[in-house]
Formats: sequence, C-alpha cells, structure tokens
Amino acid sequence: MAFLELQHLTKTFYQKGKKVRVLDDVDLSVNRGEFVVVLGPSGEGKTTVLRIIAGLDQQDSGDIYIDGELVNDLPPKDRNVAMVFQNYAIYPFMTVFDNIAFPLKLRHVPKNEIREKVKKVSEMLQIDHLLDRKPYQLSGGQRQRVAIARALVKEARLLLMDEPLANLDAQLRTIAREELKELHKNLDITIMYVTHDQIEAMALGDKLAVLHNGVIQAYGTPMEIYKNPVNVWVASFIGNPPTNLLKGRIEGGNFVFEGYKLAVPKRIAEVFEGKEVIVGVRPDDIDIGGEIKGTIEASEPTGIYTIEHVKVGSTLIRVIDRGLIIRGRGQELKISINLDTAQFFDSASGRNLVS
Ligand SMILES: Nc1ncnc2c1ncn2[C@@H]1O[C@H](COP(=O)(O)OP(=O)(O)OP(=O)(O)O)[C@@H](O)[C@H]1O
Ligand SMILES: [Mg+2]
Repeated sequence: MAFLELQHLTKTFYQKGKKVRVLDDVDLSVNRGEFVVVLGPSGEGKTTVLRIIAGLDQQDSGDIYIDGELVNDLPPKDRNVAMVFQNYAIYPFMTVFDNIAFPLKLRHVPKNEIREKVKKVSEMLQIDHLLDRKPYQLSGGQRQRVAIARALVKEARLLLMDEPLANLDAQLRTIAREELKELHKNLDITIMYVTHDQIEAMALGDKLAVLHNGVIQAYGTPMEIYKNPVNVWVASFIGNPPTNLLKGRIEGGNFVFEGYKLAVPKRIAEVFEGKEVIVGVRPDDIDIGGEIKGTIEASEPTGIYTIEHVKVGSTLIRVIDRGLIIRGRGQELKISINLDTAQFFDSASGRNLVS
C-alpha cells in the first residue's frame, strides 16, 4: 500500500437545495516522500479533497489510508497532517513566533522545546529575523513562509498545500516555487499540493493528478501527461498555449480536415483508416508558412513570441509566432502542421487512441 491512499472518495454538497456531486470517485496513491500536485480548474473540488484528507470535512463514502492506517474516523488532530490554506490563515494579532508556535502550544509542548523547534524551522525558511513582527509587517512571500513554518513545526507526516503561492506576484512565485522544491528535497515529507495553474503544476510536481468532473482524469509525471494525454480534455488543459484540437477523418493515409490533407504517420493510418478523429497538435508543431490558409482572429504578444489565433475554416488554431513582425486581426496567415508527434483521439469518446 502507498503512503497515502484515497479509495473511491465521493462528496456531495447541497447548493440552493440541489445536490452537487463534487467528488464522484476519486482514487489516488501517493508514495512516501513524493510531491504530488493536484491540478484542476476552479470549483472542481481540489480544496474539498484536501479538507477531507485533513479531516476538516467528511467524505460521503470511500476510504483514506495514511501510512497504512485507515483514518476515516480519526479527528483532524490525530491524523498528523498539516495544511497550508489558500489564504495562509495566520493570526493577525500574533507575532510570527507565536503563529509558528501555536500548534505546539495546543499540544502543551514544553516552552524550551517550542523555542528550539521554532528557531530551527524559521532558520530553515529564512524568517528567523522576523519572529517579533506581526503579519501586517510582512510581505506576501514572508507570510506564506510563516504559514509553511507553522505547518512544518508540527513535524506532520503529510503536508497539504492549497494554492499557497496564489497571492504572490509572478516573480516572487517563481522564487517561492524553487524554495519549496528545495525544501521538499531536504525534508523527509510527503506533499500534496493543489493548484489550478498548470505551469505551476508542471514546475513543482514529481507527479500530477488532473482532477475534473469528480475523478482523477490522469495521473503521472508532468512529462508523461503532457506528451501523452489520456483524453481530449487533458490535452486541452495542459500546456500553454494549449494543444490545438482538429476534427477530421483518416482517409487514404491522410488526416482530412477543413478541406486539407495532412500526411499521418503510417502506424496511425493503418489502424485508424476511415475513422473520425480529433487530432491534438501542440503549438510547437505548427510553423508559419505553408499550404494551409488561415485568418488571424487575435494576436497575444508575450514578449518572446506572439500567440496568433488563426481561423482555418471553422477551426481555431493557436500558432507560436517567433518573428518580430506585428500582424493584425483579419490578416491572412499561411501555416503548416506537422503530425509526427500529434495525438489521436476517438471523436466520440475523446479517448487517446494510441496510448
Ligand atoms: N461547504 C460547502 N457547501 C456547498 N458547496 C460547497 C462547499 N464547499 C465547496 N462547495 C462547492 O464545491 C465545489 C468544489 O469546491 P472546492 O473549493 O473544492 O473547489 P476548488 O477546486 O478548490 O476551486 P478553486 O480553484 O476555486 O479554489 C464548488 O462548486 C463549491 O462551490
Ligand atoms: Mg480551492
């Protein structure tokens, strides 16, 4: 059995008198010491999963095992799990020291031991010079580290983090991510981290669990999920800009779409001849210049490159434009599409036909 096992978790909430099934059948195994990121759009139940693991909410059905122990009926304080909340939830009227020491005081740990533990964890997080301050005297990043310190000081066996970097500016967030990865390396702790930001998820996780429609749609290393998404939904959610989805048919060894014929790798053509498919093409497999005529609908400059939104027939395709020419809406753009590493999905079920 893995260190953390979620088995068939379900959870229903009542909203305006209607039943809403937020978790339908969530299964997940996390190994000891792993850093697992649960990724999914807003409102899909990520916080709910963490709250259920911590014991702050009760599942309707399903089991949770931590380190081999069934914890369904254990109160939060006996689960030995620490949680860093979306809004940090540090106490505004307490000093940094008292905030970090709080869980130890609740457990009646002797004072000198508290002092030692707070010192150790605050040095590790480089906030030892801030122990006398109140939260309002801290930056967002420092507040976040106080929240992490308070979670770590309990020496919990499992650390749950709910979008802890969401309130930081982009630059600080990148630094905080690196720090968190480093911290995880140096500590013997299992982390389950929740975010709706797929770039953050790719950067942080040893593994990603993609949550949508109440189930884990995909579970694996970020690269496995990016390179070989199990279905159309995962393909369209991972990657920035996301994978383009083109609808068409495999005919005579070609993918026929919007009146164009694109060569398909032989192994695909042989198996899928005559089938309706959705083809997933990453923006890096589309070049500017070629046979396919499109019209620019919008341009999104990022600085390093521009994402052109190009309409080909009725299909919207995102293309990375590395040139410095500024193109405008309505302008024609010719492109070519390489299907060598494309993904092929069944058009009815949305399932990846190759993996
Ligand atoms: N106590 C509650 N009562 C009723 N509905 C709830 C309750 N808690 C959460 N929900 C609903 O359950 C769904 C999942 O909520 P949850 O907070 O787990 O989503 P999330 O994935 O964490 O979203 P976000 O990324 O916005 O934080 C939402 O539709 C939310 O409105
Ligand atoms: Mg949430």
